[in-house]
Amino acid sequence: ARKGSALVREVREKQSSNKSRQRFWELAGSKLGDILGVEKSAEQIDADKEHVGEEGEVDFKEHAKFSSHMKQKGEAASEFSKTKSLTEQRQYLPIFSVREELLQVVRENQVVVVVGETGSGKTTQMTQYLHEDGHSTYGMIGCTQPRRVAAMSVAKRVSEEMECELGDKVGYAIRFEDVTGPNTIIKYMTDGVLLRETLREPDLDQYNVVIMDEAHERSLNTDVLFGILKQVVARRRDFKLIVTSATLNAQKFSNFFGSVPVFRIPGRTFPVNILYSKSPCEDYVDAAVKQVMSIHISCPPGDILIFMTGQDEIECTCFAISERMEQLEANARKAAAPLSILPIYSQLPSDLQAKIFQKAEGGARKCIVATNIAETSLTVDGILYVIDTGYGKIKFYNPRMGMDALQVFPVSRAAADQRAGRAGRTGPGTCYRLFTESAYQNEMLPNPVPEIQRTNLGNVVLLLKSLNVENLLDFDFMDPPPQENILNSMYQLWVLGALDNVGRLTSLGRKMVEFPLDPPLAKMLLSGDELHCVNEVLTIVSMLSVPSVFFRPKDRAEESDAAREKFFVPESDHLTLLNVYLRWKENQYRGDWCNDHFLHVKGLRKAREVRSQLLDILKMQKIPLSTCGSDWDVVRKAICSAYFHNAARLKGVGEYVNCRTGMPCHLHPSSSLYGLGYTPDYVVYHELVLTAKEYMQCVTAVEPQWLAELGPMFFSIKDSHTSRLEQRRKQKVEMTVMEKEMEEVRRSQAETARKS
Ligand code: CDP
Ligand code: MG
Repeated sequence: ARKGSALVREVREKQSSNKSRQRFWELAGSKLGDILGVEKSAEQIDADKEHVGEEGEVDFKEHAKFSSHMKQKGEAASEFSKTKSLTEQRQYLPIFSVREELLQVVRENQVVVVVGETGSGKTTQMTQYLHEDGHSTYGMIGCTQPRRVAAMSVAKRVSEEMECELGDKVGYAIRFEDVTGPNTIIKYMTDGVLLRETLREPDLDQYNVVIMDEAHERSLNTDVLFGILKQVVARRRDFKLIVTSATLNAQKFSNFFGSVPVFRIPGRTFPVNILYSKSPCEDYVDAAVKQVMSIHISCPPGDILIFMTGQDEIECTCFAISERMEQLEANARKAAAPLSILPIYSQLPSDLQAKIFQKAEGGARKCIVATNIAETSLTVDGILYVIDTGYGKIKFYNPRMGMDALQVFPVSRAAADQRAGRAGRTGPGTCYRLFTESAYQNEMLPNPVPEIQRTNLGNVVLLLKSLNVENLLDFDFMDPPPQENILNSMYQLWVLGALDNVGRLTSLGRKMVEFPLDPPLAKMLLSGDELHCVNEVLTIVSMLSVPSVFFRPKDRAEESDAAREKFFVPESDHLTLLNVYLRWKENQYRGDWCNDHFLHVKGLRKAREVRSQLLDILKMQKIPLSTCGSDWDVVRKAICSAYFHNAARLKGVGEYVNCRTGMPCHLHPSSSLYGLGYTPDYVVYHELVLTAKEYMQCVTAVEPQWLAELGPMFFSIKDSHTSRLEQRRKQKVEMTVMEKEMEEVRRSQAETARKS
């Protein structure tokens, strides 16, 4: 196991004394100070949730604003893009030089794999080339993206290049947002959206061509689409499929579709010199800081990019570098060459993110400290030095515990190579690897573990079942998920009543598929129908589908906590969310009201949008909008029906254990159930987040008889008679078994990945 960084601890200690924190802010300039002050709860739950969202659930509205903001100011635009017309820019892209050959290969083959460097023009140009070559005459050209941000920003760019309104000829669709129209011929969408479309149209008749972009990322939905599109290709001779990929997986993709051609777009990159650490490095944060200083003092101009695992490390690294800079100046008794230290991670406010693209003041050397967001998602020109710690955060699902855990893992060789490549975009560069060559060769996996092998499959199982895939273990997966994950997800669906005893979809399951929600949330909505409180449950589900609406700036923590408490419904965080929404509605959905009450107006507005989309689906399903008025007990029962696999029993002060697994779980201090002198015997929770402790997120008190009534397969009244001692003994055994299993699952996943 990896030892924690001593430097991180040291910096944190220093920062805990206010004086040094103050000094740091002066030293680093107010901007960096602002960043470090940005919302972080005492227990770091939020910080960890942020990282879970690192790649997926980014606030995409913010990003759209961010890119247009950059355009207006012309900050991100290079000299080149400022002076050249869009047509000239298009012609300068590497893909343009092979346009004819590419189109020829597509005309002659039903499936083609296209490989090219980031920035060569695959995403923005191929759709247009295909349109120009007549492939849009009989149907749309679809292009899938693993990330929502990418789908939106790329569609916008292409609509500009084609000189049309976004949503007209060129549009995009992401969950809860469809910006396409009757004229749309080029449609960018998330892979999840296309997957859901196969439910309505198994043969995707609307499309003439589908481009599966960024397939090398192996997102869960992309992996499922692989199997489904392979069938479409077999059934429809008039359908074309293009798969884009980084170099490493290309052959594997080609083989999956029956040795189809691989088309390579020539790159325009410079060589990168790779230097390894001579011995394993004890503290990579410390090593990275030293490396930065050595580059800054002795290497020619050129910007530096450092890869760290998350926000916490990034902040500490920035702090430590600025401190060393100060020491340097103190020792030399004169100003050192300026160094501009810039953090970047997905949750950083957008105006601060934009800074990494701007020229540093006074021509200073830039030092960007990033998460893996800078691996492929963001491209910064001018980087000549990359420092790679060799680690990243990865989300792993533990089927037995039924929860995701975010852990620091060594990255794969493919990821390390991608990171190194970032140094060679502007000129010959250098990559400093803070790990040994032998670790690279022998310890790192060749490729990242695909998401399908490390995630909860509830949604996938439900979707494939409704596509009439009888035996999921036989489905044509490129890399099958561990059987245990499939079986566990099926079990969860059975418990929710979506599958029957022989694994067939029930009528409830069929209804659940209609909603683009995780199975428990879909179940909650449908229980709301049964219990005549759809209106209330609908609001709760919408609020759970957006990032937390509570705003907690560090310097006003007490004030914001007090504001939050005013909304508390003592027996339920879910009902507290409902309360917040209703109060906002009472106040005419006003933005200033949100600011006064420490609420994120953007989050609430998004919840309102989600709510109206879900309402449309309810209408289509002919489910009436019933309401229970002010009797919210029945709402708690609907909540209970969705979460009884996450039911917990009181054990001590603020301490619970999962009824089924014996897993300890704690009330978070921010919960409305915390410290109010009211601790119910039984609760259900939305999810478990593993940080310093296992914290339950979003908790609701429930009656034990509901558990027995709604989840008879789990709970019987008899249970509560077993002696405490006996229970404790059982829990202990279960915990040991679980830990062992966790270890085994991890090992077998690593094993599968190594083999593939
Ligand atoms: O997909 P690939 O990485 O091969 O390239 P692309 O996304 O098609 O980008 C080609 C070029 O289009 C980039 O180098 C940018 O200059 C430009 N682009 C942009 O200005 N705005 C976007 N949202 C996407 C691309
Ligand atoms: Mg692309």
